[in-house]
Amino acid sequence: MARHRIAILPGDGIGRDVMDAAKIVLDKLKLDAEYIPGDVGWEFWKSEGNALPERTSKLLRNTDCCLFGAITSKSKEDSEKELNPELKDKGYSYYSPIVKLRQEFNLHTNMRPCKAYKGNPLNFRDDIDLVVFRENTEGLYSGVEYYPLPDELMAVLAKHPRMKRFTTVPLEDIALSCRIITRTGARTIIRQAFEYARKSGRKNVTLVEKPNVLRETGGLMLHEARDIVSEYPGIELQEVNIDAMCMWLVKNPQDYQVLVCANLFGDITSDLCAQLVGGLGFAPSANIGNNYAIFEPTHGSAPKYTGQYKVNPMAMLLTVKLMLDYLGESELSGRLEEAIARVIKEGKIRTYDIGGNASTLEVAEEVTRNLAL
Ligand code: NAI
Ligand code: MG
Repeated sequence: MARHRIAILPGDGIGRDVMDAAKIVLDKLKLDAEYIPGDVGWEFWKSEGNALPERTSKLLRNTDCCLFGAITSKSKEDSEKELNPELKDKGYSYYSPIVKLRQEFNLHTNMRPCKAYKGNPLNFRDDIDLVVFRENTEGLYSGVEYYPLPDELMAVLAKHPRMKRFTTVPLEDIALSCRIITRTGARTIIRQAFEYARKSGRKNVTLVEKPNVLRETGGLMLHEARDIVSEYPGIELQEVNIDAMCMWLVKNPQDYQVLVCANLFGDITSDLCAQLVGGLGFAPSANIGNNYAIFEPTHGSAPKYTGQYKVNPMAMLLTVKLMLDYLGESELSGRLEEAIARVIKEGKIRTYDIGGNASTLEVAEEVTRNLAL
């Protein structure tokens, strides 16, 4: 029996292109693993009314971890339009499968390293090496949303002094998304960020929030961060508001080492950080829980490039590196990162986003050639 059982969910669009690149590299690394493919994504929404069929959740429960490509998500209105006519008006509603998976498997920590590899012409600076820790199951992405606002909810909310000015608005003209932050959720993501800083020898952790305005949810994050930092002597806590952070990240990105954010702010901040080190084509991520993990590039399905094998596989290959770390395969992980770094530095084989014309699979092949060196 193979040492690792890995679920493979290519998903939609370029998720499939970059998964093929990952397979080339995994085969060459000879990872002792069994790969089990699964169904996820837009075609299953259209045909079954469920972008994450139960058989796929079951598959994941029987594996050690999952490698995920990308999925396509659309607004409520557009999703309903594309549903198989036979399934219409039967109560199906679209919900992003990756968001659902993060919640279902309690993958509380989304770790997104953004490192400037030498020789990448798109690096904003060459000395950027930071990691974003994004809370992954709560916050504004909890999925607790209303439109129109139910009567009974308005009755409760109306007691809040700041709600008064909305009480005259018709309920069918109010949409509400809840930012739910639990103490456990806040403490878990903040602790993960500090643990990572300690293990990797980094000296500061920056909480990216907005507690001056989001007084309760932001306030809870701040309070818990100030409590947890006391357990980590030698590591400093910096507190920066999300808006100012966007400015600082463009001004002095080299000053930051570990960022910790609630779900939405982490989503936004990590795309900004990705662009500092070459764009979404270089941004890997790991969704980690206590018992399971899903690895996926930060980018989405980029529909306009579907099936063209044009996009950069580096984000996916760096994601494979994170998966190897999780599986305890540190030797293979080290070899893979060195090969990736060498290919970037040599710059002979590059996809369109860094000014080249190599295909997704040619880049993967070049990485495998460098693995052997
Ligand atoms: P996206 O990440 O798919 O693409 C944005 C743009 O970034 C692309 O048009 C392309 O110019 C560039 N890009 C992305 N990946 C690249 C790569 N590997 N190499 C080179 N260039 C790359 O984001 P977008 O356009 O906002 O969303 C497209 C679809 O993906 C939507 O349906 C969205 O909901 C979904 N999405 C899914 C995610 C996931 O699966 N976790 C994450 C983000 C978006
Ligand atoms: Mg995102």
